[in-house]
Amino acid sequence: MRLQRAAPPSLLPTAALALILALAVSPQLTCGATPFPQDLEPISIVGRESSYLYPSFQGLMSDNDTVRLGLDFQRMLRINHMLYIAARDHVFAINLPASSEQIVPLQKLTWKTKDVEKCTVRGKNSDECYNYIKVLVPRTDETLFACGTNAFNPTCRNYKMSTLEQDGEEMLGQARCPFESRQSNVGLFAGGDFYSATMTDFLASDAVIYRSLGESRPVLRTVKYDSKWLREPHFLHAIEYGNYVYFFFSEIAVEYTTLGKVVFSRVARVCKNDNGGSPRVLERYWTSFLKARLNCSVPGDSFFYFDVLQSLTNVLQINHRPAVLGVFTTQANSITGSAVCAFYMDDIEKAFNGKFKEQRNSESAWTPVPEEQVPKPRPGCCAADGAASTYKSSTTFPDETLTFIKSFPLMDEAVPSVNDQPYFTRTTSRFKLTQIAVDTSAGPYKNHTVVFLGSENGRLLKILASTQGANASFGTALLEDIDVYNPDRCNVRGEDRRVLGLELDRDNHAVFVAFSSCVIRVPLSRCSEYSTCKTSCLSSRDPYCVWLRAGSCATLSPGIKGGFEQDVENSQQQYPDNCHDVLATTRKQNTVAADSAYGQYTYLSFPLTAG
Ligand SMILES: *[C@@H]1O[C@H](CO)[C@@H](O)[C@H](O)[C@H]1NC(C)=O
Ligand SMILES: *[C@@H]1O[C@H](CO)[C@@H](O)[C@H](O)[C@H]1NC(C)=O
Ligand SMILES: *[C@@H]1O[C@H](CO)[C@@H](O)[C@H](O)[C@H]1NC(C)=O
Ligand SMILES: *[C@@H]1O[C@H](CO)[C@@H](O)[C@H](O)[C@H]1NC(C)=O
Repeated sequence: MRLQRAAPPSLLPTAALALILALAVSPQLTCGATPFPQDLEPISIVGRESSYLYPSFQGLMSDNDTVRLGLDFQRMLRINHMLYIAARDHVFAINLPASSEQIVPLQKLTWKTKDVEKCTVRGKNSDECYNYIKVLVPRTDETLFACGTNAFNPTCRNYKMSTLEQDGEEMLGQARCPFESRQSNVGLFAGGDFYSATMTDFLASDAVIYRSLGESRPVLRTVKYDSKWLREPHFLHAIEYGNYVYFFFSEIAVEYTTLGKVVFSRVARVCKNDNGGSPRVLERYWTSFLKARLNCSVPGDSFFYFDVLQSLTNVLQINHRPAVLGVFTTQANSITGSAVCAFYMDDIEKAFNGKFKEQRNSESAWTPVPEEQVPKPRPGCCAADGAASTYKSSTTFPDETLTFIKSFPLMDEAVPSVNDQPYFTRTTSRFKLTQIAVDTSAGPYKNHTVVFLGSENGRLLKILASTQGANASFGTALLEDIDVYNPDRCNVRGEDRRVLGLELDRDNHAVFVAFSSCVIRVPLSRCSEYSTCKTSCLSSRDPYCVWLRAGSCATLSPGIKGGFEQDVENSQQQYPDNCHDVLATTRKQNTVAADSAYGQYTYLSFPLTAG
């Protein structure tokens, strides 16, 4: 296998990477069939002069801790017309239809820790002696489940969705919620069970994928301190899909020990009906835990891998097939690059149905397990289903199956990305992309896909991705590059421009962009800025903007049924410059903004459905 002989490109010395990137700048110099993709130029740059007016939320300003420390955003959750914002000591409920002018919480809950003394005695950083709300998920139609770090004493509670009143008793949060705000975690309810992935101890040495709180299923976890199962993982997302719950994370690759610590991205899967192993093997552990590498790479003579998953969508449709989209970056110690890759759910299944990976002895390379050595029923199957249909419960699986999966949870093949290439890459900015949100039904016919990406430097990129059908004649375009971070409102404890969350509110035409100290509501489009200039309205290629016969550029709304023009596909290509004044002003501002913010700065275009 090619990868095992060559170092992954993201680990090559910087000089070699510079060469790869230099080649990218002059595609005619590349020797392979596939030149390295170039960064795309934004069609429109939205500067601070437009975005500083967008509504923002900084938390409870009557709270002394918030004034001193800021909001400390943790996560967002949208349920119907409500947006819940979980932060330090508080959860806020925002009524979305009422938030276009200003963001005022309809309800809030305050949950402060009572364990401050104990926490300070532990001699830890006193900034951690608060309750960082790290879990906020729907438990039923009427109940929210929340867990907080609670000053190193993680605790969970139920809250009534309608009033944010506590419902029932507190419960222990260990293995459901991390001890510290910095640690990563994911959680979701599926079939009445709570699935969580987090660190289970004060020292953050024991990482776990855990199931608890169910009425009929036993508590299960991953094997403790076994690097074949999890190795310094960073958990990013969990999804319920079919018979399984999927976990997406990055971790130190076990299969790359000789080159130092390399991060790979993984998808792992467990059966919802897993009951654990037999009293002899894997009792109270997962019997169905499998994991595979996600391959987000630029093909060509020198593969270029984007191995560090940053953020991932829920399941959506790409080319009428269920898929997820993620934003990936290069290794921390290498040059900065980001990419958006999509993965079909059935390709993920294919990887889990493929060969297992093994290391014969601690010196040798990892190789596929020969098929004849794989026991039956096939490890990783769900009981009472498919190859394991004769087994009522995983507790009755033969010892061979259980022993095998205990040692070989890693699949040999990586999951290929849709079209074997990223939708979008960015390699000339020194800032990484951190967050993703996707609208797969944009535009008047709901057949355009718009991808929103948040960055480390406070920007929101809006991308038109051509995902519909294999014959789309137009490629991916970078529609807007929006400077969202507002230093006047978001700078509490020094500047932190990293986008930590994105939440779409399609009904009210907005996307909420979260930073550590503020959440900003950004409209999905800025059509009225093109005012009466038809040229700029159409050449914006914005599926949310329409040119009306009356002679103005307007935001697409349900009221507009017909009698408008658009050119999302860019069929016109060149428009006569007939609104010189409007355009000249906009373009001039754009150039200045681009130069000062980035230096040389371009984006790559890639037809999603090509090849
Ligand atoms: C907040 O700070 C003000 C001024 O320092 C003080 O008077 C007030 O008691 C504080 N409130 C709380 C709840 O600590
Ligand atoms: C990743 O995908 C590329 C095709 O884009 C392929 O050439 C490469 O071998 C794959 N890498 C792994 C580890 O499967
Ligand atoms: C979207 O639908 C409209 C109307 O049916 C059609 O004209 C257009 O080509 C479609 N665009 C894409 C990208 O499928
Ligand atoms: C795409 O093009 C191929 C070959 O040109 C054709 O066979 C196929 O039907 C087209 N698919 C769609 C969805 O138009």
